[in-house]
Amino acid sequence: MLNILENVGLKPYTTFGIEATARQFVEIKNQEEAVQLVESGVLRDKLHLVIGGGSNILFTGDFDGLVIHVANRGIRMVESAPDSALVEAAAGEVWHDLVSWAIKQGLGGLENLSLVPGNVGAGPVQNIGAYGVELKDYFHSLRAIDLETGSEKVFTKDECRFGYRDSIFKRALKGKMLILAVTFCLSKTPVLRLDYGAIRQELEAMNIKEPAVADVSEAICRIRRNKLPDPAVTGNAGSFFKNPVVSSGKAETLIAGYPGIPVYHQPDGSMKLAAGWLIETCGWKGYREGDAGVHPKQALVLVNYGNATGIDIITLAGKIQDSVLDKFGVKLEMEVNIV
Ligand code: EPU
Repeated sequence: MLNILENVGLKPYTTFGIEATARQFVEIKNQEEAVQLVESGVLRDKLHLVIGGGSNILFTGDFDGLVIHVANRGIRMVESAPDSALVEAAAGEVWHDLVSWAIKQGLGGLENLSLVPGNVGAGPVQNIGAYGVELKDYFHSLRAIDLETGSEKVFTKDECRFGYRDSIFKRALKGKMLILAVTFCLSKTPVLRLDYGAIRQELEAMNIKEPAVADVSEAICRIRRNKLPDPAVTGNAGSFFKNPVVSSGKAETLIAGYPGIPVYHQPDGSMKLAAGWLIETCGWKGYREGDAGVHPKQALVLVNYGNATGIDIITLAGKIQDSVLDKFGVKLEMEVNIV
């Protein structure tokens, strides 16, 4: 039974912990409710927004429309082969719970994505990534409800058009689909991905010589807990900006001026820069203005120390963008959805 509520505070539904009110709010607990919502006609001509764990969203004011909170549950193995398994998870499941479930079943693939905040349904929207792995690497398909027609649609990996923190759900299909469930193809003979950052170092510190997927997950959790703010304590939405991609010519100019600058070669010849490094080099790391700030351990993460407003955060973000553009001639694009 659909229960559309009026004037609902959104603070508990986003990891930034910022006050904002939705004029209307509805929780979707299963496919029938999603279809019912479309068929009821309430979405026609009405501003609406689908949210999951609220870990990649910043409200800069009240939302004068309907917020649709996807809260369905369930994780199940849908197919099992000698080397792999297809696992379907409901969009409303907490992402890290899926990672833990997979590890308990002895299935590998998602361990490097341990502790990424948010729910399963948001994962494909921005193709979440961390420590050398992106969701698309283990993605099989997803099921969604078309918010105009109420019909179910299955998207294959190609149809999702995944890119770096990008997919069709941020572009042509933005706001048009409600993702219900995501299916992953996980491995029964996992190949561990240990080359990124400090994973090997952390495993050594844990005194682990022959790591299993659970050990890699634990190492990643330790690295993240040490470097990234816990949204339950300090409001944040993970990386606020994307790492910018520049031409190789631009990168060479920057390397000549700043020999220590981290650059990552891309398959198409372009270069990815570390936004955290650019921001830190402009002097912003640990900066605080009222309750809006730049995390002292990772300059890519903007934080709410308590009572910052969405406008406070976005104003700070704008100043950071201006100073990075001034100093390096590089435009930082926001990763977080601004509403
Ligand atoms: N760096 C600095 N100063 C900083 C932060 C980073 O100099 O304040 C340097 C680091 O020393 C390193 C480089 O920048 O040389 C890259 O840093 P790091 O490995 O911490 O990763 P990142 O590029 O800053 C990306 C993702 C994170 C993900 C990490 C680890 C994006 C936008 N962010 O950050 O994802 O956890 O890699 O894989 O791609 C997220 O999307 O919310 C997120 C946290």
